Amino acid sequence: MALKSPQIHILLLFSALTLVAGDAPAAGPIAPGDNSTAFIRSSCGATLYPDLCFSSLVRYAANVRSDPVRLAWLSANVTLGRVRAVSSHVSSLQRASAAVESREAAALRDCAEALDDATDLARNAAAEIGRLAASEASPEVGWWVSNAQTWMSAVITNEDTCTDGFASVGPGPLKADVCRRVRWAKEYSSNSLALVNKLVSSR
Ligand SMILES: *[C@@H]1O[C@H](CO)[C@@H](O)[C@H](O)[C@H]1NC(C)=O
Ligand SMILES: *[C@@H]1O[C@H](CO)[C@@H](O)[C@H](O)[C@H]1NC(C)=O
Repeated sequence: MALKSPQIHILLLFSALTLVAGDAPAAGPIAPGDNSTAFIRSSCGATLYPDLCFSSLVRYAANVRSDPVRLAWLSANVTLGRVRAVSSHVSSLQRASAAVESREAAALRDCAEALDDATDLARNAAAEIGRLAASEASPEVGWWVSNAQTWMSAVITNEDTCTDGFASVGPGPLKADVCRRVRWAKEYSSNSLALVNKLVSSR
């Protein structure tokens, strides 16, 4: 590699420009003095899937305002969206196969039911954290946190019910698709539960 190559010169020129631009006040999308991104990264460190946690939440950094309750709320909202999407996907697979009698069809039916319940549970968990965000001084705070923990744990139980139901079904594209999506939703749910649990330890 010779330094006289024109590409190298261009690369070096760009690095120099980037260094200058890095000092400019309007370098990034985040307002000066805003710590939300760092706050989200460090809070996500307490979860089982920190990269997923960070990447799914950072785009809403402005809503979080470095507040652990708002972060848990946002995370529950995002989890609700994920669970709802998987639930509606599985329900439409189930409707399409309703006439078929097989182990797979039975597992799909039970899974659709479990995910429908999981959607309601995630909605309850998000709403409960919303109450907390609205009134952190209320004497009911401990009760709300504990409800949110219960509901988010139940979301995870229902996701397990779905994948466990496929244990006796032989491998196939439908089983693989459903289990992959549900496991992904479970990673979101697990992260949300960890962020709610963190509220207890920080109090
Ligand atoms: C940024 O974070 C530091 C340390 O966590 C804190 O002391 C400071 O108040 C924060 N600044 C803003 C603007 O939130
Ligand atoms: C969570 O969702 C509710 C309902 O859509 C919304 O009002 C609230 O602002 C969201 N919370 C956060 C922290 O984004």
